[in-house]
Amino acid sequence: MSNAPKPAIAPPYPGFIGNAIVWIDARFPLVQLYKTQVGEYYAPKNFNIWYYFGALATLILVMQIVTGIFLTMNYKPDAKFAFASVEYIMRDVSWGWLIRYMHSTGASMFFLVVYLHMMRGLMYGSYRKPRELLWIFGCMIYLALMAEAFFGYLLPWGQMSYWGAQVIINLFGAIPVIGEDLAVWIRGDFSISDATLNRFFAFHVIALPLVLLGLVAAHLVALHEVGSNNPDGIEINKNPDPNTGTPRDGIPFHPYYTVKDTFGVVVFLGVFTAIVFFAPEMGGYFLEAPNFIQADPLKTPEHIAPVWYFTPFYAMLRAVPSMFGSQFPGVAVMGAATLILFTLPWLDRGKVKSVRYRGPIYKRFLTAFVISFIILGYLGVVPTTVWGQLSKSLPLIGGADVATIVARVLTVVYFAFFFLMPWYTKVDKEKPEPERVTF
Ligand code: HEM
Repeated sequence: MSNAPKPAIAPPYPGFIGNAIVWIDARFPLVQLYKTQVGEYYAPKNFNIWYYFGALATLILVMQIVTGIFLTMNYKPDAKFAFASVEYIMRDVSWGWLIRYMHSTGASMFFLVVYLHMMRGLMYGSYRKPRELLWIFGCMIYLALMAEAFFGYLLPWGQMSYWGAQVIINLFGAIPVIGEDLAVWIRGDFSISDATLNRFFAFHVIALPLVLLGLVAAHLVALHEVGSNNPDGIEINKNPDPNTGTPRDGIPFHPYYTVKDTFGVVVFLGVFTAIVFFAPEMGGYFLEAPNFIQADPLKTPEHIAPVWYFTPFYAMLRAVPSMFGSQFPGVAVMGAATLILFTLPWLDRGKVKSVRYRGPIYKRFLTAFVISFIILGYLGVVPTTVWGQLSKSLPLIGGADVATIVARVLTVVYFAFFFLMPWYTKVDKEKPEPERVTF
């Protein structure tokens, strides 16, 4: 090792803080990390409202972990005490109600924000080269998030917790050959029990949060390796300033986007606190009514439905007819609907990335895809008895009610967006991309 003195880094702070930075920097690349990842990290200057959601998702992740830690201090993962411990948190623990409502509202807002974040990726072609791996990490996050929400939902040990988990785990039972054993293995018992609650608690409070944190770190490393896309879908790194070498269409993340994201956070927190304080149940969408009744293995609730963020997939499950009395086809379609997201970077053959310069066919497919996802979400929320009522005055088609037929058509539209993409992105009449970003 050479004894030559390290080049002095002149910290912008005098006195103790400046000295501390110099001390740390001789042992850890603090200033360098700050410069490359924040202060001198150039992001496109044309970000719009759709670019708030990554930062907001990060905020919610932190908030869920912090509120989760405080909930764990008073929650009891025991089938005998779980429900009562949640009531205790709500009624007796100081500020317990606030912590719990923040956590339950945070779960729904997490999905809302992540869905909008994914929508932005679709609109601007952010999954395309060179961001394929960034997208794949995103898809893995989405799967992990669904698992995290599913495990967490059992913990209050209410009627919907119990029966929701029962329905979902039974779906695994529909898998041929291994299904039954798999379902027992997941539950740790022949029915949902204390053993199930214990393992779901372990997954919810430690295993999946670790996975999520690791995946989000990988997501951000991949993002900073290739740089952000933008609403025009053009690569700003291809157009550097000859004098400075930095992208001509880029601005440093700090202070420009730290300030912009702070504004987004303030607006988000306004909406978030309004929900937490005035409508934490959100009309039964964020906290479902049957979950205020303790789990009763002998009494099935009239209508079992997952929380809204799972319902598009649930509607697909209900729409697909069973085969030889097995629900497996529906389960396979539901699984395929989430896994197909991973293939997106290789399905798109368009020359341009952003929807701004795409042709009319792509725009129609994207619109149809979004509308079908939303309507499927609605159909998944309403009970099957209402599916029948929706079509009361209409004739049954092939023995199925109209809502089932609609759900089937929309499921086909959902998959057509992916399966036909190699074709329609190739033949579509695209507009030329601009040289520089626009506003
Ligand atoms: C915990 C969940 C997630 C967190 C915390 C997160 C965080 C972020 C952040 C901070 C950014 C940069 C800021 C921005 O572009 O908004 C970003 C970009 C991105 N994320 Fe995520 N993300 C999450 C989930 C996802 C999911 C589920 C997907 C897709 C399946 C995804 C795909 C992307 C893509 C493609 C970009 C680059 C977008 C562009 O540059 O246009 N992310 N993410």
